[in-house]
Amino acid sequence: MLYGKNIYLRGVELSDVPEIMKYWNNRELKRFLNAVAPHSTQEEEEWVRNTWNKRKKGKSYLFGIVLLESDLYIGNVEVGIKDSISRRGILGIVIFNQMYWAKGHGTEAIELILEYAFTTLNMHSVELEVFSNNPRAQRCYEKNGFKKSGIRREALFIDGKYLDSFLMDITKEEWKLVNV
Ligand SMILES: CC(C)(COP(=O)(O)OP(=O)(O)OC[C@H]1O[C@@H](n2cnc3c(N)ncnc32)[C@H](O)[C@@H]1OP(=O)(O)O)[C@@H](O)C(=O)NCCC(=O)NCCS
Repeated sequence: MLYGKNIYLRGVELSDVPEIMKYWNNRELKRFLNAVAPHSTQEEEEWVRNTWNKRKKGKSYLFGIVLLESDLYIGNVEVGIKDSISRRGILGIVIFNQMYWAKGHGTEAIELILEYAFTTLNMHSVELEVFSNNPRAQRCYEKNGFKKSGIRREALFIDGKYLDSFLMDITKEEWKLVNV
């Protein structure tokens, strides 16, 4: 487990699926993830099992984000290995419980997983993709040292409109400058 000031990160269990299902099919959430189809409980259970397989194969590491004070599970953060030779990781995060958006928990979860990616998994860089409709996420990534490295123009069709998506990344050296 990885401990921060207000949250900790732990493995995700099948018993977490009911909490995910309370929020997962919310359209407000899905417009930031470009996921259009509703998911069933069985699909989410399959997804959780699949993340265990990916971890066993060293392909991806998923953590649940849990509040230290109440032990409430509010989201997930994951780092996957995009290129094992170049040691390039890819980050994904979702706080599915909207009550806990914009309270600093996303920033803290990213801080913890970046430390894990650079000091445990020996990543050289970590990248991500974020949509132009999501300034909160962009700000959260910038606060953690990510820089914009590219743009996919009109790459997404969400809520009847084409949107750009941004690529962002951070290298280990950049991370070390502020964290070591
Ligand atoms: C993106 C996400 C992980 C960020 O976590 P969070 O806990 O909400 O974010 P934080 O509170 O740590 O940081 C958000 C920052 O953005 C700012 N912010 C909040 N709403 C904003 C908005 N509408 N526009 C611009 N900035 C905004 C906050 O003020 C804060 O910056 P500050 O500390 O300088 O004031 C979370 O909101 C989430 O899961 N959203 C839904 C799914 C998602 O978007 N996932 C990412 C896909 S790329």
